[in-house]
Amino acid sequence: MEKISSTLASLRKEYGNKELDVNELSENPINQFKKWLDEAIKIEANEPNAMAISTVTDENKPRSRYVLFKDLVEEEIIFHSHYESPKAKEIFNNPNVSGVFYWPEIHRQIRFEGVCKKASPEVSDDYFNSRPRGGQLSAIVSNQSQKIQGRDEIEEKIAELEIKYKNKEIKRPDNWGGFSIKIVYWEFWQGRDNRTHDRFSYSLLDNEWKIERLSP
Ligand SMILES: Cc1cc2nc3c(=O)[nH]c(=O)nc-3n(C[C@H](O)[C@H](O)[C@H](O)COP(=O)(O)O)c2cc1C
Repeated sequence: MEKISSTLASLRKEYGNKELDVNELSENPINQFKKWLDEAIKIEANEPNAMAISTVTDENKPRSRYVLFKDLVEEEIIFHSHYESPKAKEIFNNPNVSGVFYWPEIHRQIRFEGVCKKASPEVSDDYFNSRPRGGQLSAIVSNQSQKIQGRDEIEEKIAELEIKYKNKEIKRPDNWGGFSIKIVYWEFWQGRDNRTHDRFSYSLLDNEWKIERLSP
């Protein structure tokens, strides 16, 4: 069998010459983020709103997982999850998080760091009410990340709830809702040929965004 390093070496790609010029950057990183997200959506990038979020356990161990970016509220990044999940416990214990978007189709990465808290009940309700009923019921029955014996456990509970809530409005459970990240650091990476990538960081200093070019 071929060595994994040889297989991976054959995957090497050039990234093209799309430039990220300092003069084209928005002064506010939120606008730059929106611009890149819009472009990713326009070119039909796969899951353009998927972002990996990293948290830290109370034993100082970092943990990452993907979630879906769902909204910007007062310039904060919103995603939704279970408030009793491992990630939620980690956030309540240590609100410092980092995250990353990657759009391979256009060779772009956005990295951010910030402070995370529960989103307002209104933001959580609005999103929960917009979900298809199946997603609402699954939010209710899942004790996210707890061990289970089999799919049946979940499917049976959903079937019971489908009867219980037939023709009734499903209310958001207290243990499920939004998280909101206030970002204090952003980094935009545009992949370029020969690994001479363009990178810019935005750091929040005295309420002003300072932009700096970083070495690839
Ligand atoms: C593309 C993608 C999107 C996801 N979106 C979410 C999400 O928005 N909310 C969520 O709770 N889990 C989402 N998940 C599942 C999480 O990655 C993770 O498995 C789950 O939230 C449990 O994480 P935890 O044990 O660290 O709390 C997503 C997974 C993938 C692959």
